[in-house]
Amino acid sequence: MRTLETTFAGLSLKNPVIVSSSSLTDNAEKNKQLCEAGAGAVVLKSLFEEQILQEVEGMEDFDPFVMGGNDLTEYFRHHKLEEYFALIRDTKRMVDIPVIASINAYDEGNWTEFAQKIEAAGADALEINILALQTSLDYQYGAFEKRHIDILKLVKKAVKVPVIMKLGDNFTNPVALIQQLYANGADGVVLFNRFYPTDINIDKVEQCAGNAFTTEADLSKSLRWTGIASAAVGNISFAVSGGVHNAAGVVKSILAGASAVEVCSAIYLKGNGIIKEMTDGLAEWMDSHTMDNIPMFRGMLNMHDRNEGINTFERTQFLKYYGQFKK
Ligand SMILES: Cc1cc2nc3c(=O)[nH]c(=O)nc-3n(C[C@H](O)[C@H](O)[C@H](O)COP(=O)(O)O)c2cc1C
Repeated sequence: MRTLETTFAGLSLKNPVIVSSSSLTDNAEKNKQLCEAGAGAVVLKSLFEEQILQEVEGMEDFDPFVMGGNDLTEYFRHHKLEEYFALIRDTKRMVDIPVIASINAYDEGNWTEFAQKIEAAGADALEINILALQTSLDYQYGAFEKRHIDILKLVKKAVKVPVIMKLGDNFTNPVALIQQLYANGADGVVLFNRFYPTDINIDKVEQCAGNAFTTEADLSKSLRWTGIASAAVGNISFAVSGGVHNAAGVVKSILAGASAVEVCSAIYLKGNGIIKEMTDGLAEWMDSHTMDNIPMFRGMLNMHDRNEGINTFERTQFLKYYGQFKK
């Protein structure tokens, strides 16, 4: 009997299509609809410390004589956090799939306390994203990797639920980092988070936002690193995020070594119906390739045997392949 069930970071999912953290998942009613549309799990919109602070600074009626700046920051931090805990509780009440909370941590701040409260509110797992550009001239090589490990250690001490690390794509060697994350207790990794896209408007001669959404072409980067890292660090779960737009993207991600995919742009662009298209397409592919379950083909095309076939995951230069592109 063919089944789409999978296990990601210790969570049992009815299928591998997880709705990725974004405003798609910022309220309980939307999460219920995503669940009804067939999602295997949802990752709630991230709680950003930066955003809490910005909201406080943006308050027009902020009167420093009535309430001190620090008190007000504390008040709004509390309020924002309570809102987030309510999102977890309400979503948990309305869905029967795993609910993964998400925090954006950019320093060691108060995240351990928040993590404990997130767990107490009922989240089934906690995803941490530490997405940030490293641009300082004084940057010490390895400092950003170390920040990931330090935050992970603090959070692991605080909670019992699985902890998932969502990585940016700005690491020299994600494989070595993932090995360290595994050694320090991470249950899963997501490859990759997406930086806010930037562009330049040449008519107005000013900076502007780029396209918020990915295309299928973005999948290649996640496939490469999932294919390499899942062979090297076999005991941690992988989810692909970035460029999964259809059932083929789900199948490719699993063949590369992922246990699940986190999907965002495709749902924004095509609506919740794409979730069922993905799971139906996955089931069809499994039937036509006589695969009864996900573990049968998870990682089948990862880097586990570097001597066989064409190793495109580790190929960086085009070399002789330039020959194909004659004008
Ligand atoms: C509008 C928008 C909002 C997002 N918000 C978050 C967020 O709050 N936290 C997070 O970890 N990722 C966030 N992301 C990144 C997505 O979760 C996802 O990792 C990324 O878009 C790549 O997946 P995709 O190709 O399916 O879009 C956001 C993406 C978009 C487009």
